[in-house]
Amino acid sequence: TAYEISACLVGSEMCIRDRHMSDQNYIIAPSILASDFARLGEEVRNVLDAGADWVHFDVMDNHYVPNLTIGPMVCEALRKYGIKEFIDVHLMIDPVDDLAQNFIKAGADLISFHPEASKHIHRSIHAIKDKGCKAGLVYNPATPLNTLESVLDDLDLVLIMSVNPGFGGQSFIHSSLEKIAQVRKMIDNSGRDIRLEVDGGINKETIGLASEAGADTFVAGSAIFNTENYEQTISELRSKIV
Ligand code: DX5
Ligand code: ZN
Repeated sequence: TAYEISACLVGSEMCIRDRHMSDQNYIIAPSILASDFARLGEEVRNVLDAGADWVHFDVMDNHYVPNLTIGPMVCEALRKYGIKEFIDVHLMIDPVDDLAQNFIKAGADLISFHPEASKHIHRSIHAIKDKGCKAGLVYNPATPLNTLESVLDDLDLVLIMSVNPGFGGQSFIHSSLEKIAQVRKMIDNSGRDIRLEVDGGINKETIGLASEAGADTFVAGSAIFNTENYEQTISELRSKIV
């Protein structure tokens, strides 16, 4: 009967949703910006051994953002040190394209950039993907999502900033929750496998809010690296995901 069919459909949808929402599907990506740069290789090894899933690698150019951090040589050095896990490169730089290529050569798994830092967003995305690297777009708290619709299907990840980029240790901007929810709807409607990442001010209090809004990938810098026991902190963060 129609009732049975719809019950069955609901049942299978629930199955898919349950699977989608299982623990393995949540990614914790510590931002190495908050780590001890003098011991970077060791810090990255330790945080991964403590249960982190990805390495979040913040690249700042003192032009797109008012701070200067690390480039492709440091990414390559982590690979040479023996880091084999997923490196999630967040470019806060303008222009994007040349350095993105250097990061692919240096071993990045995913490269995300801010749409306002590229004159040709579609071209920048495909220049990354053509080399077999994953691509993401990043939206600041006051950047509208209007560039997303036409390229969503080309992306592997959308990153919503919950602070203004440039520094670690800032407070979570709550209006980003609405943006996360909007992107969650867009991704679900697309039916594609696109991660929804949140970055900035994520800690034991805010990670639950971001997950409730629809995020599945969580960057945390100071909330992890400013604690003594990374393993305990990461499992506490994970336990707050709803
Ligand atoms: C900000 C960076 C973030 C930052 C997050 O520009 O993109 O990744 O390091 O740091 P916390 O978690 O300390 O807010
Ligand atoms: Zn970041």
